[in-house]
Amino acid sequence: VFDHVVQAPEDPILGVTVAYNKDPSPVKLNLGVGAYRTEEGKPLVLNVVRRAEQLLVNDRSRVKEYLPIVGLAEFNKLSAKLMFGADSPAIQVKRVTTVQCLSGTGSLRVGAEFLARHHHQRTIYIPQPTWGNHGKIFTLAGLSVKTYRYYDPATRGLNFQGLLEDLSLAPSGAIVLLHACAHNPTGVDPTLQQWEQIRQLIRLKGLLPFFDSAYQGFASGSLDADAQSVRMFVADGGECLAAQSYAKNMGLYGERVGALSIVCKTADVASRVESQVKLVIRPMFSNPPIHGASIVAIILKNRDMYNEWTVELKAMADRIISMRQQLFDALRARGTPGDWNHILKQIGMFTFTGLNTAQVAFMTKEYHVYMTSDGRISMAGLSSKTVPHLADAIHAAVTR
Ligand code: LMR
Repeated sequence: VFDHVVQAPEDPILGVTVAYNKDPSPVKLNLGVGAYRTEEGKPLVLNVVRRAEQLLVNDRSRVKEYLPIVGLAEFNKLSAKLMFGADSPAIQVKRVTTVQCLSGTGSLRVGAEFLARHHHQRTIYIPQPTWGNHGKIFTLAGLSVKTYRYYDPATRGLNFQGLLEDLSLAPSGAIVLLHACAHNPTGVDPTLQQWEQIRQLIRLKGLLPFFDSAYQGFASGSLDADAQSVRMFVADGGECLAAQSYAKNMGLYGERVGALSIVCKTADVASRVESQVKLVIRPMFSNPPIHGASIVAIILKNRDMYNEWTVELKAMADRIISMRQQLFDALRARGTPGDWNHILKQIGMFTFTGLNTAQVAFMTKEYHVYMTSDGRISMAGLSSKTVPHLADAIHAAVTR
Protein backbone atom coordinates (compact mmCIF):
# COMPACT_ATOMS: atom_id res chain seq x y z
CA VAL A 1 0.00 0.00 0.00
CA PHE A 2 2.97 2.33 0.34
CA ASP A 3 4.53 1.64 -3.07
CA HIS A 4 3.55 5.05 -4.34
CA VAL A 5 5.41 6.88 -1.56
CA VAL A 6 8.24 8.91 -3.04
CA GLN A 7 11.51 9.70 -1.29
CA ALA A 8 11.24 13.06 0.51
CA PRO A 9 14.13 15.51 0.36
CA GLU A 10 16.26 15.98 3.47
CA ASP A 11 15.46 18.98 5.67
CA PRO A 12 17.39 22.03 4.39
CA ILE A 13 18.98 22.60 7.83
CA LEU A 14 19.03 19.25 9.65
CA GLY A 15 19.90 17.50 6.36
CA VAL A 16 23.22 19.37 6.35
CA THR A 17 24.23 17.39 9.45
CA VAL A 18 23.17 14.14 7.75
CA ALA A 19 25.49 14.94 4.80
CA TYR A 20 28.27 16.05 7.16
CA ASN A 21 28.08 12.78 9.12
CA LYS A 22 28.57 10.78 5.91
CA ASP A 23 31.74 12.68 4.93
CA PRO A 24 34.92 10.81 6.00
CA SER A 25 37.21 13.86 5.57
CA PRO A 26 39.22 14.76 8.71
CA VAL A 27 38.96 18.49 7.92
CA LYS A 28 35.17 18.55 7.58
CA LEU A 29 33.38 21.38 9.28
CA ASN A 30 29.65 21.56 10.14
CA LEU A 31 28.39 25.14 10.14
CA GLY A 32 24.87 24.13 9.20
CA VAL A 33 22.70 23.64 12.25
CA GLY A 34 22.58 26.40 14.87
CA ALA A 35 24.01 24.45 17.77
CA TYR A 36 26.74 25.73 20.06
CA ARG A 37 30.14 24.07 20.01
CA THR A 38 33.14 24.67 22.27
CA GLU A 39 36.57 25.81 21.06
CA GLU A 40 37.31 22.08 20.74
CA GLY A 41 34.28 21.66 18.47
CA LYS A 42 32.32 19.71 21.08
CA PRO A 43 28.67 20.12 22.15
CA LEU A 44 28.40 21.87 25.52
CA VAL A 45 26.31 20.95 28.54
CA LEU A 46 26.30 24.00 30.82
CA ASN A 47 27.69 23.47 34.32
CA VAL A 48 24.56 24.95 35.78
CA VAL A 49 22.46 22.44 33.87
CA ARG A 50 24.56 19.57 35.23
CA ARG A 51 24.06 20.97 38.75
CA ALA A 52 20.32 21.18 38.25
CA GLU A 53 20.22 17.62 36.93
CA GLN A 54 22.14 16.45 39.98
CA LEU A 55 19.55 18.06 42.23
CA LEU A 56 16.79 16.33 40.28
CA VAL A 57 18.48 12.95 40.62
CA ASN A 58 19.06 13.41 44.35
CA ASP A 59 15.50 14.48 45.08
CA ARG A 60 13.78 11.19 45.87
CA SER A 61 10.43 12.92 46.24
CA ARG A 62 10.27 13.54 42.49
CA VAL A 63 8.02 11.20 40.55
CA LYS A 64 7.39 10.64 36.88
CA GLU A 65 3.67 11.42 36.89
CA TYR A 66 2.07 13.16 33.91
CA LEU A 67 2.32 16.91 33.95
CA PRO A 68 -0.92 18.86 33.45
CA ILE A 69 -1.81 19.56 29.80
CA VAL A 70 -0.23 23.03 30.07
CA GLY A 71 2.97 21.67 31.62
CA LEU A 72 4.88 22.51 34.78
CA ALA A 73 3.20 25.50 36.45
CA GLU A 74 6.41 26.80 38.00
CA PHE A 75 8.24 26.59 34.67
CA ASN A 76 5.45 28.52 32.95
CA LYS A 77 5.47 31.27 35.56
CA LEU A 78 9.25 31.66 35.47
CA SER A 79 9.37 31.55 31.67
CA ALA A 80 6.83 34.35 31.42
CA LYS A 81 8.92 36.45 33.81
CA LEU A 82 12.04 35.80 31.79
CA MET A 83 10.32 36.88 28.59
CA PHE A 84 8.24 39.82 29.81
CA GLY A 85 10.28 41.00 32.80
CA ALA A 86 10.20 40.09 36.49
CA ASP A 87 7.86 42.97 37.36
CA SER A 88 5.77 42.93 34.20
CA PRO A 89 2.35 44.52 34.88
CA ALA A 90 0.82 42.23 32.25
CA ILE A 91 1.81 39.21 34.34
CA GLN A 92 0.64 40.88 37.54
CA VAL A 93 -2.85 41.48 36.16
CA LYS A 94 -2.84 37.92 34.76
CA ARG A 95 -3.49 38.87 31.16
CA VAL A 96 -0.75 36.47 30.01
CA THR A 97 -1.27 32.76 29.66
CA THR A 98 1.87 30.63 29.33
CA VAL A 99 1.93 26.94 28.43
CA GLN A 100 4.88 24.61 28.23
CA CYS A 101 5.50 23.27 24.73
CA LEU A 102 8.08 21.27 22.79
CA SER A 103 10.76 23.92 22.36
CA GLY A 104 10.38 26.77 19.86
CA THR A 105 8.89 24.70 17.06
CA GLY A 106 6.22 23.15 19.29
CA SER A 107 5.34 26.54 20.76
CA LEU A 108 4.97 28.07 17.31
CA ARG A 109 2.84 25.16 16.15
CA VAL A 110 0.50 25.25 19.16
CA GLY A 111 0.16 29.02 18.81
CA ALA A 112 -0.55 28.67 15.09
CA GLU A 113 -3.16 25.94 15.63
CA PHE A 114 -4.87 28.10 18.23
CA LEU A 115 -4.89 31.08 15.84
CA ALA A 116 -6.20 28.95 12.97
CA ARG A 117 -9.18 28.01 15.13
CA HIS A 118 -9.86 31.25 16.95
CA HIS A 119 -8.42 34.23 15.10
CA HIS A 120 -10.63 35.90 12.51
CA GLN A 121 -7.74 36.61 10.12
CA ARG A 122 -5.84 33.46 9.13
CA THR A 123 -3.06 35.12 7.17
CA ILE A 124 0.41 35.26 8.65
CA TYR A 125 3.22 37.41 7.27
CA ILE A 126 6.71 35.99 7.74
CA PRO A 127 9.96 37.81 6.96
CA GLN A 128 11.75 37.17 3.69
CA PRO A 129 13.98 35.30 4.38
CA THR A 130 13.22 33.48 7.61
CA TRP A 131 13.99 30.21 9.40
CA GLY A 132 13.25 27.37 6.95
CA ASN A 133 10.68 25.73 9.25
CA HIS A 134 8.43 28.75 9.78
CA GLY A 135 6.47 28.53 6.52
CA LYS A 136 5.85 24.80 6.98
CA ILE A 137 4.72 25.14 10.60
CA PHE A 138 2.16 27.82 9.79
CA THR A 139 0.91 26.25 6.55
CA LEU A 140 0.34 22.88 8.21
CA ALA A 141 -1.51 24.58 11.06
CA GLY A 142 -3.95 25.95 8.49
CA LEU A 143 -2.73 29.53 8.17
CA SER A 144 -2.15 31.22 4.86
CA VAL A 145 1.49 32.31 4.66
CA LYS A 146 2.63 35.53 3.00
CA THR A 147 6.00 37.24 3.23
CA TYR A 148 7.15 40.75 4.02
CA ARG A 149 10.43 42.24 2.85
CA TYR A 150 13.11 42.07 5.52
CA TYR A 151 16.64 41.68 4.19
CA ASP A 152 18.38 43.83 1.62
CA PRO A 153 21.13 41.83 -0.14
CA ALA A 154 22.68 45.06 -1.47
CA THR A 155 23.41 46.45 2.01
CA ARG A 156 23.37 43.09 3.79
CA GLY A 157 21.19 44.92 6.26
CA LEU A 158 17.52 45.54 7.01
CA ASN A 159 15.15 46.58 4.23
CA PHE A 160 13.27 48.79 6.64
CA GLN A 161 11.26 50.71 4.03
CA GLY A 162 10.23 47.46 2.35
CA LEU A 163 9.19 46.01 5.70
CA LEU A 164 7.05 49.05 6.57
CA GLU A 165 5.45 49.14 3.11
CA ASP A 166 4.57 45.45 3.14
CA LEU A 167 3.13 45.50 6.64
CA SER A 168 1.13 48.62 5.91
CA LEU A 169 -0.54 46.74 3.02
CA ALA A 170 -1.40 43.71 5.20
CA PRO A 171 -5.12 43.25 5.92
CA SER A 172 -6.33 44.26 9.36
CA GLY A 173 -5.94 41.46 11.89
CA ALA A 174 -3.21 39.66 9.92
CA ILE A 175 -0.62 37.91 12.05
CA VAL A 176 3.00 39.06 11.76
CA LEU A 177 5.85 36.73 12.64
CA LEU A 178 8.73 38.66 14.20
CA HIS A 179 12.08 37.35 15.40
CA ALA A 180 12.47 38.75 18.92
CA CYS A 181 16.24 39.10 18.44
CA ALA A 182 19.10 37.64 16.41
CA HIS A 183 17.08 37.13 13.24
CA ASN A 184 17.63 33.69 11.74
CA PRO A 185 19.18 33.35 9.13
CA THR A 186 20.37 36.94 8.54
CA GLY A 187 21.65 38.10 11.94
CA VAL A 188 20.08 41.47 11.07
CA ASP A 189 17.77 43.07 13.66
CA PRO A 190 15.87 46.36 13.66
CA THR A 191 17.25 49.04 15.98
CA LEU A 192 15.14 49.97 19.01
CA GLN A 193 13.90 53.07 17.15
CA GLN A 194 12.91 50.90 14.21
CA TRP A 195 11.17 48.45 16.54
CA GLU A 196 9.19 51.36 17.91
CA GLN A 197 8.10 52.33 14.37
CA ILE A 198 7.18 48.72 13.64
CA ARG A 199 5.17 48.61 16.85
CA GLN A 200 3.28 51.77 15.98
CA LEU A 201 2.46 50.49 12.52
CA ILE A 202 1.34 47.09 13.79
CA ARG A 203 -0.94 48.68 16.40
CA LEU A 204 -2.27 51.28 13.95
CA LYS A 205 -3.15 48.57 11.44
CA GLY A 206 -4.54 46.18 14.06
CA LEU A 207 -2.06 43.43 13.15
CA LEU A 208 -1.25 40.63 15.59
CA PRO A 209 2.45 40.17 16.46
CA PHE A 210 3.73 36.61 17.00
CA PHE A 211 7.31 36.61 18.32
CA ASP A 212 9.73 33.78 17.87
CA SER A 213 12.24 34.11 20.70
CA ALA A 214 14.86 31.42 20.17
CA TYR A 215 17.98 33.39 21.07
CA GLN A 216 17.24 35.40 24.22
CA GLY A 217 20.65 36.16 25.74
CA PHE A 218 22.52 35.12 22.61
CA ALA A 219 22.32 38.33 20.65
CA SER A 220 23.77 40.71 23.21
CA GLY A 221 24.66 38.42 26.10
CA SER A 222 21.89 40.12 28.13
CA LEU A 223 18.56 38.39 28.71
CA ASP A 224 16.74 41.69 29.29
CA ALA A 225 18.22 43.51 26.30
CA ASP A 226 17.27 40.66 23.99
CA ALA A 227 13.66 40.76 25.19
CA GLN A 228 13.17 44.48 24.60
CA SER A 229 11.32 44.12 21.32
CA VAL A 230 8.73 41.82 22.87
CA ARG A 231 8.38 43.92 26.00
CA MET A 232 7.57 47.03 23.93
CA PHE A 233 4.56 45.23 22.49
CA VAL A 234 3.37 44.20 25.94
CA ALA A 235 3.95 47.58 27.58
CA ASP A 236 1.45 49.21 25.20
CA GLY A 237 -1.35 47.07 26.63
CA GLY A 238 -1.99 45.22 23.37
CA GLU A 239 -2.04 41.57 22.44
CA CYS A 240 0.75 39.37 21.13
CA LEU A 241 2.08 35.83 21.17
CA ALA A 242 5.59 34.71 22.04
CA ALA A 243 7.25 31.34 21.44
CA GLN A 244 10.26 30.76 23.71
CA SER A 245 12.95 28.15 23.27
CA TYR A 246 15.58 27.03 25.78
CA ALA A 247 17.47 25.05 23.14
CA LYS A 248 20.20 27.60 22.56
CA ASN A 249 20.34 29.77 25.65
CA MET A 250 20.41 26.84 28.11
CA GLY A 251 21.85 24.36 25.63
CA LEU A 252 18.82 22.10 26.14
CA TYR A 253 18.40 21.30 22.43
CA GLY A 254 17.32 17.66 22.67
CA GLU A 255 15.25 18.17 25.82
CA ARG A 256 12.71 20.05 23.68
CA VAL A 257 11.75 22.62 26.26
CA GLY A 258 9.97 25.85 25.44
CA ALA A 259 6.88 27.90 26.17
CA LEU A 260 4.08 29.64 24.34
CA SER A 261 2.71 32.82 25.90
CA ILE A 262 -0.43 34.51 24.68
CA VAL A 263 -0.77 38.05 25.93
CA CYS A 264 -4.45 39.06 26.02
CA LYS A 265 -6.33 42.24 26.87
CA THR A 266 -7.68 41.00 30.22
CA ALA A 267 -7.27 38.17 32.74
CA ASP A 268 -10.72 36.88 31.86
CA VAL A 269 -9.84 36.52 28.17
CA ALA A 270 -6.46 34.95 29.05
CA SER A 271 -8.18 32.29 31.11
CA ARG A 272 -10.59 31.42 28.28
CA VAL A 273 -7.75 31.40 25.77
CA GLU A 274 -5.81 28.96 27.95
CA SER A 275 -8.80 26.62 28.10
CA GLN A 276 -8.81 26.51 24.28
CA VAL A 277 -5.04 26.06 24.03
CA LYS A 278 -5.45 22.94 26.17
CA LEU A 279 -7.82 21.59 23.51
CA VAL A 280 -5.05 22.09 20.96
CA ILE A 281 -2.37 20.38 23.05
CA ARG A 282 -4.28 17.37 24.35
CA PRO A 283 -4.77 15.61 21.00
CA MET A 284 -1.36 16.75 19.74
CA PHE A 285 1.03 15.50 22.45
CA SER A 286 -1.25 15.20 25.49
CA ASN A 287 1.10 16.93 27.91
CA PRO A 288 4.77 17.95 27.70
CA PRO A 289 7.84 16.13 29.09
CA ILE A 290 8.95 16.82 32.64
CA HIS A 291 12.73 16.66 32.68
CA GLY A 292 13.84 19.71 30.68
CA ALA A 293 11.21 21.95 32.22
CA SER A 294 12.33 20.88 35.70
CA ILE A 295 15.93 21.82 34.87
CA VAL A 296 14.83 25.25 33.65
CA ALA A 297 12.62 25.84 36.68
CA ILE A 298 15.43 24.98 39.11
CA ILE A 299 17.82 27.37 37.39
CA LEU A 300 15.37 30.24 37.02
CA LYS A 301 14.13 30.18 40.61
CA ASN A 302 17.49 29.94 42.35
CA ARG A 303 19.37 33.25 42.35
CA ASP A 304 22.79 31.66 42.57
CA MET A 305 22.10 29.24 39.73
CA TYR A 306 20.45 31.94 37.65
CA ASN A 307 23.59 34.06 38.00
CA GLU A 308 25.79 31.14 37.06
CA TRP A 309 23.62 30.60 33.98
CA THR A 310 23.95 34.23 32.87
CA VAL A 311 27.75 34.00 33.16
CA GLU A 312 27.83 30.81 31.06
CA LEU A 313 25.42 32.31 28.55
CA LYS A 314 27.54 35.43 28.21
CA ALA A 315 30.63 33.27 27.68
CA MET A 316 28.88 31.48 24.78
CA ALA A 317 27.75 34.80 23.28
CA ASP A 318 31.25 36.26 23.66
CA ARG A 319 32.90 33.27 22.02
CA ILE A 320 30.60 33.69 19.03
CA ILE A 321 31.44 37.40 18.84
CA SER A 322 35.16 36.61 18.93
CA MET A 323 34.63 34.14 16.04
CA ARG A 324 33.13 36.99 14.02
CA GLN A 325 36.27 39.07 14.54
CA GLN A 326 38.60 36.16 13.78
CA LEU A 327 36.82 35.26 10.56
CA PHE A 328 36.75 38.89 9.48
CA ASP A 329 40.48 39.27 10.20
CA ALA A 330 41.31 36.04 8.39
CA LEU A 331 39.47 37.17 5.24
CA ARG A 332 41.16 40.55 5.37
CA ALA A 333 44.58 38.90 5.82
CA ARG A 334 43.91 36.86 2.66
CA GLY A 335 42.78 39.94 0.75
CA THR A 336 39.50 38.17 -0.05
CA PRO A 337 37.55 40.39 -2.44
CA GLY A 338 34.35 41.90 -1.02
CA ASP A 339 33.19 43.90 1.96
CA TRP A 340 33.03 41.53 4.93
CA ASN A 341 31.97 44.08 7.54
CA HIS A 342 28.58 42.39 7.82
CA ILE A 343 30.31 39.50 9.60
CA LEU A 344 31.02 41.91 12.44
CA LYS A 345 27.70 43.76 12.27
CA GLN A 346 25.30 40.82 12.19
CA ILE A 347 24.37 39.36 15.56
CA GLY A 348 23.44 36.07 17.16
CA MET A 349 24.42 32.60 16.07
CA PHE A 350 24.53 33.14 12.34
CA THR A 351 26.31 35.07 9.65
CA PHE A 352 24.44 35.44 6.40
CA THR A 353 27.58 35.47 4.30
CA GLY A 354 26.15 36.55 0.95
CA LEU A 355 27.74 33.48 -0.68
CA ASN A 356 25.49 32.00 -3.36
CA THR A 357 24.31 28.41 -3.80
CA ALA A 358 27.08 27.56 -6.30
CA GLN A 359 29.76 28.95 -3.97
CA VAL A 360 28.31 26.99 -1.04
CA ALA A 361 28.30 23.79 -3.13
CA PHE A 362 31.92 24.44 -4.11
CA MET A 363 32.98 24.93 -0.48
CA THR A 364 31.26 21.71 0.54
CA LYS A 365 32.75 19.71 -2.33
CA GLU A 366 36.28 21.04 -2.23
CA TYR A 367 36.73 22.07 1.41
CA HIS A 368 34.22 19.85 3.25
CA VAL A 369 32.60 22.93 4.78
CA TYR A 370 28.92 22.22 5.43
CA MET A 371 26.38 25.05 5.59
CA THR A 372 22.86 25.80 4.40
CA SER A 373 22.58 26.55 0.69
CA ASP A 374 21.42 30.13 1.37
CA GLY A 375 24.96 30.98 2.55
CA ARG A 376 24.19 30.97 6.28
CA ILE A 377 26.96 29.82 8.59
CA SER A 378 26.62 29.00 12.25
CA MET A 379 29.32 31.05 13.98
CA ALA A 380 28.74 28.85 17.04
CA GLY A 381 30.19 25.90 15.13
CA LEU A 382 33.45 27.70 14.42
CA SER A 383 36.65 27.76 16.53
CA SER A 384 40.05 29.47 16.36
CA LYS A 385 41.42 26.26 14.88
CA THR A 386 38.86 26.05 12.09
CA VAL A 387 38.68 29.75 11.13
CA PRO A 388 41.68 29.52 8.73
CA HIS A 389 40.12 26.57 6.90
CA LEU A 390 36.81 28.41 6.51
CA ALA A 391 38.58 31.57 5.37
CA ASP A 392 40.53 29.55 2.77
CA ALA A 393 37.29 28.01 1.55
CA ILE A 394 35.50 31.36 1.28
CA HIS A 395 38.52 32.92 -0.43
CA ALA A 396 38.66 30.11 -2.99
CA ALA A 397 34.89 30.29 -3.57
CA VAL A 398 34.82 34.02 -4.30
CA THR A 399 38.02 34.11 -6.39
CA ARG A 400 37.56 31.06 -8.59
C1 LMR B 1 18.74 26.35 13.07
O1 LMR B 1 18.17 27.27 12.46
O2 LMR B 1 19.80 25.83 12.67
C2 LMR B 1 18.18 25.86 14.37
O3 LMR B 1 17.09 26.61 14.74
C3 LMR B 1 17.96 24.41 14.41
C4 LMR B 1 16.76 23.95 13.64
O4 LMR B 1 15.93 23.24 14.22
O5 LMR B 1 16.63 24.28 12.45
